[in-house]
Amino acid sequence: MYTGLTHLHSLLRWFALLAIIIALVKSFQGMRQGTDFGKSDNRWALLTLIAFHLQLLVGLALYFTQGWHTQIGNMADKVVRFYSIEHLVAMLIAIALVTIGRVRSKKATTAIAKHKRQFWAFLVALVLVLINVPWPFREVGAGNAWFPGM
Ligand code: HEM
Repeated sequence: MYTGLTHLHSLLRWFALLAIIIALVKSFQGMRQGTDFGKSDNRWALLTLIAFHLQLLVGLALYFTQGWHTQIGNMADKVVRFYSIEHLVAMLIAIALVTIGRVRSKKATTAIAKHKRQFWAFLVALVLVLINVPWPFREVGAGNAWFPGM
């Protein structure tokens, strides 16, 4: 169960990153060229939202089943501090930004505003995610894999 969830969480990161990067490139082009917010823009924004929300569900399941919440007092340990607070808070903010960006983009009445609202919210979310993933080269990510099971 634990291995399955970590593998899923680890794999979904790539879908989340791919979707948000494509959505960002598209909204950047849309902003620059003043093009319509079309079907494919909508599809990538929605895929980003879905991937991030799935990460939230799997992440929360991992967080509580692995008892990270019970270790919040142990802040001297870098790995514990990372998973119990830093990763959680940063990713919650990133997921909130993706959600807000998507909702505000949908509510906008002009195509340019749709692209812009999505672009800025997704850009900050992407930076937060890149900084807060426990990449294998980081001290807190020691032992983690680039791809699950490898
Ligand atoms: C887009 C958002 C997120 C991304 C890209 C992401 C990415 C990752 C990655 C790559 C790992 C390492 C997996 C491994 O190789 O073992 C990880 C671990 C973990 N993540 Fe996330 N995460 C996200 C959101 C969240 C959220 C919102 C939570 C909590 C609510 C969370 C909780 C955890 C926990 C607890 C672990 C450690 C699992 C363990 O006990 O080994 N993640 N995350």
